[in-house]
Amino acid sequence: MTSGSSTSAFKQQLAAFFNQRSHYDEESDFHPRLAARLLDYAQLQPGHKVLDIATGTGLVAIAAAQQVAPDGWVVGVDLAEGMLRQAKAKIERLQLFNISLYLQDVETLNLPEDCFDCVLCSSALIYLSDLPGNLKRWYDTLKPNGLVGFHGFAASAFVTSQVMQQVARQYGIELGFNQATDTAAACRSLLQTAGFVDVMIAAEQWGSYISLAQAEQGWQPDSLNPLFQPLRQLSAQQLAQAQRQFQAELRDRLTDQGIWNDISTFFVFGRKPPG
Ligand SMILES: C[S@@+](CC[C@H](N)C(=O)[O-])C[C@H]1O[C@@H](n2cnc3c(N)ncnc32)[C@H](O)[C@@H]1O
Repeated sequence: MTSGSSTSAFKQQLAAFFNQRSHYDEESDFHPRLAARLLDYAQLQPGHKVLDIATGTGLVAIAAAQQVAPDGWVVGVDLAEGMLRQAKAKIERLQLFNISLYLQDVETLNLPEDCFDCVLCSSALIYLSDLPGNLKRWYDTLKPNGLVGFHGFAASAFVTSQVMQQVARQYGIELGFNQATDTAAACRSLLQTAGFVDVMIAAEQWGSYISLAQAEQGWQPDSLNPLFQPLRQLSAQQLAQAQRQFQAELRDRLTDQGIWNDISTFFVFGRKPPG
């Protein structure tokens, strides 16, 4: 791992939030499944050079390294040292020698031009502050005909986030979850604006019913997750009121099967045009 700099307060909060998730891989099978699905679509080939944006514990990077071996290699970049430490331990255990990890903010990373066959980003788009700018940089670092792939969630995804957003708006607070990828058309436009062609979008429903208690656990204004930080502007009294509104809205959605937790997911791919 080599180290770089991440300056903004948001980035520091992000690193702190993910550094303390030392059991990330054991939290649920959700992120591993998303990473595996992204790789299914990407169809990497032996010899490919792959950039894994916000690699975390290496879910994408490690599987990619196995798929592109023996001559291909993978670069994984993340700003949370704690996540990279988990990735490094797995890589050593598996004795993989074709992955390099970099501790760096991917939004300030210097990327070589025309270098990679594929740039992937799983479960991290929501944390990037300048998505169009990043897509342009990923375009530049891809070889002609290179593939970019990520997944995004619809505006309706994650009932607790959606209801939290709905309540926050009543206090003039925009949480902005999934805004940039909230429809297939928005995903397509993001890629086309950056210059990508042959855009392919697969919409999949990953939702399920959850219990009221599970949904209520989503109220986490004190979470270290910087995406929840705007809620901290509310007074204790407002927060208590907002929580009651949140719980009432969830109860309204309760059915015999539980609460529908939509997880409309878009797997999005595009190619840099052939040179
Ligand atoms: C939910 S995890 C996903 C990790 C991994 N891609 C996966 O599929 O499990 C989000 C990751 O994004 C990283 N991240 C967010 N913003 C970043 C940035 N600007 N630069 C580098 N890493 C970033 C976090 O540190 C965290 O490891």
